[in-house]
Amino acid sequence: MRDRTLVILLTGFLPLGYAMLSARTETPRDHSAQTAEKSLADLAGGMPPDFNQEVARVVADLDRIETDTLREISQTSLDRQGQIRTLGKLLLFDKHLSVNQNEACSFCHTPETGFTGPIQSLNLSTVSYPGSVRKRFSQRKPQSYMYATFAPVLHYNDLQGDFVGGNFWDMRASGYRLQNPSAEQAQGPPTNPVEMGLPDSACLTYRLSQAPYRKVSSSGVLLSHPWTW
Ligand code: HEC
Repeated sequence: MRDRTLVILLTGFLPLGYAMLSARTETPRDHSAQTAEKSLADLAGGMPPDFNQEVARVVADLDRIETDTLREISQTSLDRQGQIRTLGKLLLFDKHLSVNQNEACSFCHTPETGFTGPIQSLNLSTVSYPGSVRKRFSQRKPQSYMYATFAPVLHYNDLQGDFVGGNFWDMRASGYRLQNPSAEQAQGPPTNPVEMGLPDSACLTYRLSQAPYRKVSSSGVLLSHPWTW
């Protein structure tokens, strides 16, 4: 009889105990998820909670890519095409081309997210990204610019009955001026106050004149030296 009572008690209480235990272990997780959602909803002009850590991680990742590329080019001889490709990469990952030397183009267009923004707390909240001055946000989500260079000069296409080409969500980098939408677009971010924030293009030219990748040797090796500031 005592044995039967024990069995009933055990079979009755074990699931109850399990339910109580799992409720206890789930509570903190649910609570923190709710808090994160709430704090994102309540930002009211503030920064998301994980903002600083995420920014630091992204900047460190991009710095690593830039440093690795500089190391590679100091040891490799490149043909003309290779030089142009590598120069493009070095420019895209160079945070020194922003006013506070903390924001490369890749900050808003990283390889790991298909060349749009990589910061989860921003993708869940503002969607747009801050510039080199971290409290100035642009108005739109960074585009994945993977195929941007294939866009033709903006024109009306009879077959599609619509405008085709240009860069930007609204095609405003039409390409009329330089006959290349991406070339026109790329002139914008370095001096845009909500992006890389340099006061004018002379400052950009100065920064480039100091860049470690500014010179190419006669054998095609890009000469590198550390930043001097
Ligand atoms: C602060 C974030 C930010 C930085 C830094 C930034 N971009 Fe962007 N980029 C954007 C946003 C936002 C858009 C879309 C803007 C729009 O449509 O009005 C965009 C759009 C583009 C496009 C258009 C893509 C398409 O398919 O039409 C290209 C190309 C591009 N960026 C290249 C660059 C380059 C090159 C740099 C550096 C010189 C750079 N971006 C720096 C946020 C950024």
